[in-house]
Amino acid sequence: MSLEINFAGIRSPNPFWLASGPPTNTLGQAVRALEAGWGGVVWKTIGEPVVNTVSRYGGLDRGREKLIGFNNIELISDRPAEVNLREMAEAKRRFPRHAVIASLMVESRREAWHEIVKRAEDTGCDGLELNFGCPHGMSERGMGAAVGQVPEYTEMITAWVKEAARTPVIVKLTPNITDVARLAEAAARGGADAISLINTINSIIGVNLDTLEPLPTVGGLGTHGGYCGPAVKPIALNMVAACAQKVKIPICGIGGIATWRDAAEFIALGAGTVQVCTAVMHYGFRIVEDLCDGLEQYLQRRGLAGVDQLRGVVTPRITDWGHLDLNYKIVARIDARKCIGCHLCYIACEDGAHQCIEPNLGPGMERAQLHPRVSYPAGMRVPRVREDECVGCNLCALVCPVEGCIEMARVENGLPFESWSQRQAKGCGTS
Ligand SMILES: Cc1cc2nc3c(=O)[nH]c(=O)nc-3n(C[C@H](O)[C@H](O)[C@H](O)COP(=O)(O)O)c2cc1C
Repeated sequence: MSLEINFAGIRSPNPFWLASGPPTNTLGQAVRALEAGWGGVVWKTIGEPVVNTVSRYGGLDRGREKLIGFNNIELISDRPAEVNLREMAEAKRRFPRHAVIASLMVESRREAWHEIVKRAEDTGCDGLELNFGCPHGMSERGMGAAVGQVPEYTEMITAWVKEAARTPVIVKLTPNITDVARLAEAAARGGADAISLINTINSIIGVNLDTLEPLPTVGGLGTHGGYCGPAVKPIALNMVAACAQKVKIPICGIGGIATWRDAAEFIALGAGTVQVCTAVMHYGFRIVEDLCDGLEQYLQRRGLAGVDQLRGVVTPRITDWGHLDLNYKIVARIDARKCIGCHLCYIACEDGAHQCIEPNLGPGMERAQLHPRVSYPAGMRVPRVREDECVGCNLCALVCPVEGCIEMARVENGLPFESWSQRQAKGCGTS
């Protein structure tokens, strides 16, 4: 099966592109990435000024898992534009079938945009991505998020770029705004051929409690940076879905993608292609093999002929809360053959949710003696769910450490579909 895509007129052997960032900073990296199997590269953003700080990155770890979140205060490429453009031209010459995209950010003047568009397209690149999203450093200078947070500016600059561009224009959106779909609509009004999202989220990754310095530290001081990596995926999925419901132009999904499953979720919610940054900074270019194999096998298993057949299939299922079925019912069922008696489900339900699980502590055992690391042979201390009181919230299944031990089972209550909006329309809603 072919994973080939045509995204807003840009052809690529697969939907996996490297996002603009450190992995796409040089020709050497682009060549190794495309040789490794990436479908395309969005070059590290070029423009002015060429400046950076030391240090620049911060990470959020949980237990033994490193970098569930990642934060940076890096600016755009710190190599001169002419060097980047020369190298982009060489990358395109060597990889004519792959997507080579220029990422651009210049001051908000029509002539400045016209000039950089021309210089970028002279490289033979396949498209342009406008970086209206950089949350730090550039926005203070009227660029990046300063443009991307104001729909009118987004529309205006997109229109300037379209006056000069011959290749497809992708507008990269910032997530640091209340309603990202308004930006998507503004980009579409400006003539964008596609949008990509998300760029990084404003954040402070942490504080060093020994030195009392913010992280990452530049000589004892810190500043807000851009958050990305696995932790931002749910935010990005929501934003992609919101845009997919509002605009018709193609969408490139970005944010926390590390596995083929992540990518498939973005595609199912409306993305035509995806971009990856943090996962490659963490594990290297080689992850693309698993991304391609996994996606290909998934499409085959589902009997889909290509990426396009998955695109957007879940988008219509995202609706307002007021349209959900209030009569839908599920309850927790514990599989006694798998339960190790740790009682995490009981504690979570009792203290953090709806008090519908009864403990099975054994003779003389107090609740206070429960410890999440204490377990029993399967089936020996199985808590009991009071199904008639269970609200089906999922919490017990989410905290249970044993795969498949707690199932949320459908209960047929014979009641018809009824949403909050329907109830209100009938005049029987309560607040
Ligand atoms: C260190 C770093 C530098 C980045 N530089 C740029 C950049 O120059 N231009 C840009 O459009 N996005 C830049 N990004 C944002 C990424 O392209 C991407 O939108 C974001 O990291 C979310 O994807 P991820 O979760 O896969 O990292 C950068 C991200 C990181 C981590």
